[in-house]
Amino acid sequence: SKFEIAVVVGSLRRDSFNKKLAKALAMLAPDEMEFRPVEIGDLPLYNQDDDEDQAPAVKRLKSEIETAHGVLFITPEYNRSVPGVLKNAIDHASRPYGQSVWAGKPAGVIGVSVGAIGTALAQQHLRNTLACLDMPTLGQPEAFIQISEELFDADGGIGEGSREFLQDWVDRYVAWVKQHAAQS
Ligand code: FNR
Repeated sequence: SKFEIAVVVGSLRRDSFNKKLAKALAMLAPDEMEFRPVEIGDLPLYNQDDDEDQAPAVKRLKSEIETAHGVLFITPEYNRSVPGVLKNAIDHASRPYGQSVWAGKPAGVIGVSVGAIGTALAQQHLRNTLACLDMPTLGQPEAFIQISEELFDADGGIGEGSREFLQDWVDRYVAWVKQHAAQS
C-alpha cells in the first residue's frame, strides 16, 4: 500500500524556491511514498468566531491532513520566523479545540532561503508549534539550505552538489513516517 505525505509549502510566490524544493524532494522519494501538495493560499484568515462553522477550504485542508500518513513542511523564513500564511494554515487545522488533525502525524521540517542561515530560525519557531500540536518531528538530520544557482538541476531535480545530502534527508524522513505508521 502507498504512503501519503501531505506537503505544506510556506510560500505562495509563483516562482517560490520552496515550491521548487518541494518538487525536487518528491523526485527523491521512493515509489511507495506519494508526496501530495496541500493548498493553503485559499484559506481565510483564521478567526476563532468561525470555529463551529469552518470554511470549505478549511474543511478540505483538514481532510487532506487527516488522510495523510505524515506531513512535510517546506518553508521560507520571513523575518526570522515562519510566514503568516503557514501559521494561518496550522492554526486553522488545529481547531476547534479537541479536533486538531495534526496530532500524531510524523512531521518533517525543511526549507530554503536567500539568507546564509537557510531558514534555521524559521524552522526552530516551527518546531515549537509542532511540539505543541503533538507532532513527532524528525530531529536529525537538520537541513538548512541557502539558495544557489546549483541547487536545482536542469530537470528541476536536486543538483549534484546537494543530492546525496538531501537524498539522505528524504530517506531518513521516509523511515520516520513508516516507523510511526507501524506504531499506530
Ligand atoms: C524574507 N527573506 C528572508 N530570508 C531569510 O533568510 N531570513 C529572513 O528572515 C527573511 N525575511 C524575509 C521577510 C519577508 C517578508 C520576505 C518577503 C522575504 C527572503 C527570503 O528568503 C526570500 O524571499 C525567499 O525567496 C522566500 O522563499 P520563496 O518564496 O522563494 O519560497
